[in-house]
Amino acid sequence: MPATASASGSTSGSTSGSSRPFSDAFAGNPAIDAAIASILAEVRKRQASITGARPASADRKETLDSWLARSAEVKGRPALYPYVGSGFGNGPLVELVDGSVKWDLINGIGVHMFGHSDPDMIEASLRGALADTCMQGNLQFNPDSIEFAELLAGEASKSSRLKYCFVTNSGCMANEQALKVCQQKTNAAPRVIAFQDCFMGRSTTMAQIGDGPAYRVGVPLNVHVDYMPFYDPDLGQRSIDMAVWHLKQYIHRYPKQHSCFVMELTQGEGGFNVAPREFFLPLMQLCKENGIPVWDDEVQTFGRTTTMFAYEQLGLGEFIDVLTLGKMSQACAVLYTQDMNPKPGLLSGTFQASTSAFAVGNAALRKLRDGGYYGADGKIAKLQKAWREHAEAFVKKHPEWFPPVRNSFGSPMTRIVSGTGGMMRLTPYGGDKDRIMKLLHRLFANGVIAFYCGHEPYHLRLLPPVGVMKPEQFGPVFEIFEKSFSE
Ligand SMILES: Cc1ncc(COP(=O)(O)O)c(C=O)c1O
Repeated sequence: MPATASASGSTSGSTSGSSRPFSDAFAGNPAIDAAIASILAEVRKRQASITGARPASADRKETLDSWLARSAEVKGRPALYPYVGSGFGNGPLVELVDGSVKWDLINGIGVHMFGHSDPDMIEASLRGALADTCMQGNLQFNPDSIEFAELLAGEASKSSRLKYCFVTNSGCMANEQALKVCQQKTNAAPRVIAFQDCFMGRSTTMAQIGDGPAYRVGVPLNVHVDYMPFYDPDLGQRSIDMAVWHLKQYIHRYPKQHSCFVMELTQGEGGFNVAPREFFLPLMQLCKENGIPVWDDEVQTFGRTTTMFAYEQLGLGEFIDVLTLGKMSQACAVLYTQDMNPKPGLLSGTFQASTSAFAVGNAALRKLRDGGYYGADGKIAKLQKAWREHAEAFVKKHPEWFPPVRNSFGSPMTRIVSGTGGMMRLTPYGGDKDRIMKLLHRLFANGVIAFYCGHEPYHLRLLPPVGVMKPEQFGPVFEIFEKSFSE
């Protein structure tokens, strides 16, 4: 059966080209199509009652408390937020087991690009559930796993030399595979170059490369990492010169000992720090001149900027040797060029992803690619614009909540509102972590789920569901901001 076999059966039509039934046995089966249509009609009917944030129902509060107690008991620690989802929602709005509804502006840290209970994603998931197995792996897989890799490699190769795609089961695991690819290519070079404040995942190796001291407490250090300063927009060219100087020092000090320079083009956990092309260009050129592979970690940025890959937005595709991605793609992957293609035996693993994850990943990627999301005028750029307008007006109205901030280099930080595409950041209270954490809890109680990022200073971070959120929905969100800041 060719991989493009199709019998849509799509009830909404908006997943066109993406709703190939995942079990060919049921392709075009009218009974299955009718069953799915009737499930989706029920979903839509119930969604009509979810139109904005609302408090818990008095009679369901105990349900939430009891789930949270069970969670704390089994995990050995309390949850950060009193969050247990009911398994239902409407786009950016999610319902919890206590019947409350909240604006979900963090989405599992950027995973649910189409928010909650999106009918197109449910349809893809239902069709995926019809396949013979829940999980697919590297030994036995179905066409949808190939389509997933083809889609990513196809999009990536449009503006880079990236050619091959290996699918894996977490962002961290994609990073592990990427590191091995780089190490093999450089004959087991022992050192890694990374940016300050980077985050890479939670394996023993990634916890060491990631620049978060708390994440490696008790982990023996056996990875040699050379940290580079990230871009400081307030220092401009000086920041670029400083970074180039640092890189030259490392290359001079440890010749031929670097397996890669790993970089997030917009830092995620590190503080939604952005940098222009002029910052990365000389660093990438230096890497090329010295045979150091450039590895672009897009686990958090992928899909969220004004291009599908963040390197496209910066016009840096020609320099990328290896790229990792995850989160919104549902399954994770490492992509690499022909030149970096490793020898057999280096990459494998039991799991790739679940069949429904491939189905939803494929549907989401196609929708993002074809649905007017990217480009300077795309839906993602419009959402960033709406965020900035609301956030800047808010800062202007309440300067008392936004005292001056110093960045990690100690210089005054002028950008209180920042971010790119679907990555949005606001820096209240001078970047003080305790006060921001308290604010996050007030926001949660009042109906907005957000998170933090950065290290001295800390920031309020939003990863809204850019696939479904509308610019005007920032209106009710900022009303909750107003209330929560004033409390
Ligand atoms: C840039 C970056 N790399 C890697 C990871 C690790 O991904 P995962 O949590 O799926 O293992 C993350 C997760 O937040 C990330 O932001």
